[in-house]
Amino acid sequence: MRAILLRELGGPDRLEPGDVPEPEPGEGQVVLEVRAAGINFADVLVRLGRYPQPPELPAVLGNEVAGEIGGRRVMALPRGGGYAERVAVDEAGLVPMPDTASFAEGASFLLTFLTAWIPLTRQVRVEPGSTVLVHAAAGGVGSAAVQVARHLGARVVATAGSEAKRELALSLGAEETYAYDEFAGQVRADVVVDPVGGPVFADSLKALNPLGSIVAIGYAAGLWQPVDPALLVGRNVGVQGFYLGRLMVHRPELVRSAVEELVALWAGGAFRPHVGAEYPLERAAEAHRLVEDRLHTGKVVLVP
Ligand SMILES: NC(=O)c1ccc[n+]([C@@H]2O[C@H](COP(=O)([O-])OP(=O)(O)OC[C@H]3O[C@@H](n4cnc5c(N)ncnc54)[C@H](OP(=O)(O)O)[C@@H]3O)[C@@H](O)[C@H]2O)c1
Repeated sequence: MRAILLRELGGPDRLEPGDVPEPEPGEGQVVLEVRAAGINFADVLVRLGRYPQPPELPAVLGNEVAGEIGGRRVMALPRGGGYAERVAVDEAGLVPMPDTASFAEGASFLLTFLTAWIPLTRQVRVEPGSTVLVHAAAGGVGSAAVQVARHLGARVVATAGSEAKRELALSLGAEETYAYDEFAGQVRADVVVDPVGGPVFADSLKALNPLGSIVAIGYAAGLWQPVDPALLVGRNVGVQGFYLGRLMVHRPELVRSAVEELVALWAGGAFRPHVGAEYPLERAAEAHRLVEDRLHTGKVVLVP
């Protein structure tokens, strides 16, 4: 079958179309016909050799797919192998798609919305009228977090790297937007959703209201500097870390209930994933370049 192979770490051109053996389902697994595969920023970090748990090479990347099995339209989070015509997935992890959803939307939903929903409903307190500051608000996780925070009744303030991306954040429900070097000193937030890290994380700690919390999700702009507990005590604020991969292993029942809540809300029209671009599978290198160069919005998907 056709797939995209990563033989060596490096730039986007390291992603090459090729033929690979059909996937062999393990115990409790089934083989899904992939109709769309989502690209996550973590895939770019893996390709560049900057992800903590690198796969063995050559590898087929891709941890998020939507596809068909026995006439059912489903979403799934495979352990790699998604950039391909077919992939082996855990049968217990198959999630039915809402009838009105496209496959591209299906491949853009689970990772981003779980990463927004679980922290905002289980780790921190968001009440009607709370101010939630969402960084990288036009990206995959960010565009989900803006919509989720808004659904929970919050006033959403957003940052993003360009004027066009800030416009998108406004259209998704943010009330105010800032560039990354503008929000410090201007914004006070009860909750910060931070997929960016680096200096943005450090500035965000100082933007928290008393009893506020920041959720550290990613380090797109660089690793976090150490946090001094004296600063947290002195300001009455907290830091929460969120890592979906580990939660799926250690609290699968919690993740499953979050999935059920999210799919029901999506089907009911509370929010929907933002698909920024679709590329044929063969053009995976181009699609990765778009994400690496920060020129995408929402989620970019590959279509086999
Ligand atoms: N912890 C978890 O469980 C979990 C789950 C999913 C994702 N993540 C992490 O969350 C982050 C977002 O993931 P995503 O897939 O939704 O990606 P994304 O937000 O679509 O893309 C990353 C965005 O980060 C922003 N950014 C700010 N500074 C940057 C810099 N110096 N270099 C590159 N990008 C920069 C860019 O948006 P602007 O152009 O607007 O600045 C860029 O588009 C990633 O770090 C990812 O690894 C973590």
